[in-house]
Parts: sequence; C-alpha cells; structure tokens
Amino acid sequence: MTRFILNGQKVNTSLPEDTPLLWVLRDGLELTGTKFGCGMGLCGACTVHVDGVAVKSCSTPVSEVADKHVTTIEQIGRNRVGAAVQAAWQKLDVVQCGYCQSGQIMAATALLAKTPRPSDADIDAAMAGNLCRCATYVRIRAAIHEAAK
Ligand code: FES
Repeated sequence: MTRFILNGQKVNTSLPEDTPLLWVLRDGLELTGTKFGCGMGLCGACTVHVDGVAVKSCSTPVSEVADKHVTTIEQIGRNRVGAAVQAAWQKLDVVQCGYCQSGQIMAATALLAKTPRPSDADIDAAMAGNLCRCATYVRIRAAIHEAAK
C-alpha cells in the first residue's frame, strides 16, 4: 500500500510498490491526461510534478512518492503559474497533434515556478527532456516567454 497526495487529495494504491507512477495514475486512478510515450524516461510525455519538481512518471516507482504531493495536468490550471502557461499555450496555438503537450506544460510550469524570467538557454535546458514529434519547439519557447510576462 502506498499513500500519497494527488492533486490535493489523499489517495492510496494497493498496486505493487515498484509499479510506475504513470500506471498508478492512468490505470489505478483513471487520470489519463498524463501520457505514455516511451516508457523509458526519454520523451517526457509522462511528466508530472512531485513536490513541485518535474518528474517522469514512467520511470518513477510509486513507492518513491509515498507521502509526497503529486500534481498532474488535470490540476495544474488551478496553480497561478500553470494557468498562465495554459493560457499562453492557447494564445500562441502551440499544440499540433497534442500528444506530448501535457508533459510539455508540466515541464514549463515547473521551470517558471523556479525561474520566473527564464532565458532561451534556461528554457532549452529545462525542456530538453520533453520531445515533440511535430517539432513545436519554437512555439513552446515563445509560449514560455509569454507566460513569464
Ligand atoms: Fe515517460 Fe517517455 S513515457 S519519458
């Protein structure tokens, strides 16, 4: 049994402790906004926040989040920075196919929470682990600057 706080609510799961957090979220708790891409920590589609830090949930055993705060894309808009990021994403029409974008938004929000006025280099460094097959990188960078205004 692992207990943690998910989007502000206490939850527990009886799934094995080595179950990736991604599967606990998607299959155990039916929060499907967090996506499965590579399953190997390489693409960032599965990014969530653990105590405010961007983490790849496919390669995080659920036991590692015991008693911690996990935030997913379903809740990030309730956070001031997350809401600004989502608004900027919409304003600049960032999304193409959309599959990677919940992970991109989670990574961007974690960046802006820590670095409110990031440089291009800060953005590139923070977003390097989030791949986009539609290559929306230029719009993602612009949207992060827009959210930082
Ligand atoms: Fe987790 Fe690709 S699905 S990094």
